Amino acid sequence: MERIRSNSPCWCGAKTKYKRCHGDRRLLQRDRVEIGVVSPPREVPDHITRPDYVTTGAVGTPRTFQIQDDTSLPRLRHACRVAAEVLEETGRAVAPGVTTDEIDAVAHAAYLSRGAYPSDLHYNGFTKSVCTSVNGVICHGIPDDRPLEDGDIVNIDVTAYIDGMHGDTSATFLVGDVDEPTRALVETTREAMLVGIAAIRPGEPLKRIGEAIEPFARSRGFTVVRQYGGHGIGETFHAAPHINHHIDRSDDQPFLPGMSFTVEPMLLSGNTTFTQQPDGWTEHIDDAMPSAQFEHTVVVTDTGAEILTVIAGESASPPAV
Ligand code: MF3
Ligand code: CO
Ligand code: CO
Repeated sequence: MERIRSNSPCWCGAKTKYKRCHGDRRLLQRDRVEIGVVSPPREVPDHITRPDYVTTGAVGTPRTFQIQDDTSLPRLRHACRVAAEVLEETGRAVAPGVTTDEIDAVAHAAYLSRGAYPSDLHYNGFTKSVCTSVNGVICHGIPDDRPLEDGDIVNIDVTAYIDGMHGDTSATFLVGDVDEPTRALVETTREAMLVGIAAIRPGEPLKRIGEAIEPFARSRGFTVVRQYGGHGIGETFHAAPHINHHIDRSDDQPFLPGMSFTVEPMLLSGNTTFTQQPDGWTEHIDDAMPSAQFEHTVVVTDTGAEILTVIAGESASPPAV
């Protein structure tokens, strides 16, 4: 797949040049999202088991591969199903005028009602129960008092801890009426995640994921964030291996049967430089173009990978490319 050029016919099938169709960057430009006021951390009842870093205050666990067997996989499945349900329930609250703090409150209640702990809460000093990343925020946005506006996009990233396992999933939601080039960014990102997952085979190297995702994104005029990747997950929230979503030719570690990790590409529509905000978390794109992200937790099977954070009825088949 080739990178699309300004004067090529648009990838969407319209007879128009890409630069006058989905490649018209003026349509994507929007106001920078200012950081708002963050409310105090939400409480978790005592009967819900916390991950060790909440009690010790330190994310000190060794970064080993997370390999599941017949006894651990059902527990991971459960955590992943809970995460998927929380994401789905929270996504239904997205609407113009709703603040990201209200989104956090909906998510928080959804975790607790399922007996799960929100893994983000007090992870490395993070004080909310989900990440909410709006428009040009690439990832790790902190829920605050900014109301979502018509035309925004917001990624909600949910991680649930239950049965001693973390399940991690995120999706980018449309707020009200979103313009077509931005919707294309969102849909391409979802497809890029599925294209990456479809490339997983036991014994093949990890780089197969980036080899699938990056050319797919570029064929639609988008770029892939290189600084953040997926991660092993299971009893540890962020474990080995690191999963690149861009091509890294040296990444020869093979996928192992039972290995569990996330695939969570972030796609950009403009420049690739971004800056961490003074809050120590929010990653802000420098050119005010939107970015999108989707995430699933997967486990390597004997023939490929199974998505564990998919909810009943959700389509998880990759596009034909
Ligand atoms: N869920 C995020 C991920 O995909 C991590 C969030 S960590 C937090 O890996 F501290 F920012 F919440
Ligand atoms: Co996540
Ligand atoms: Co993750």
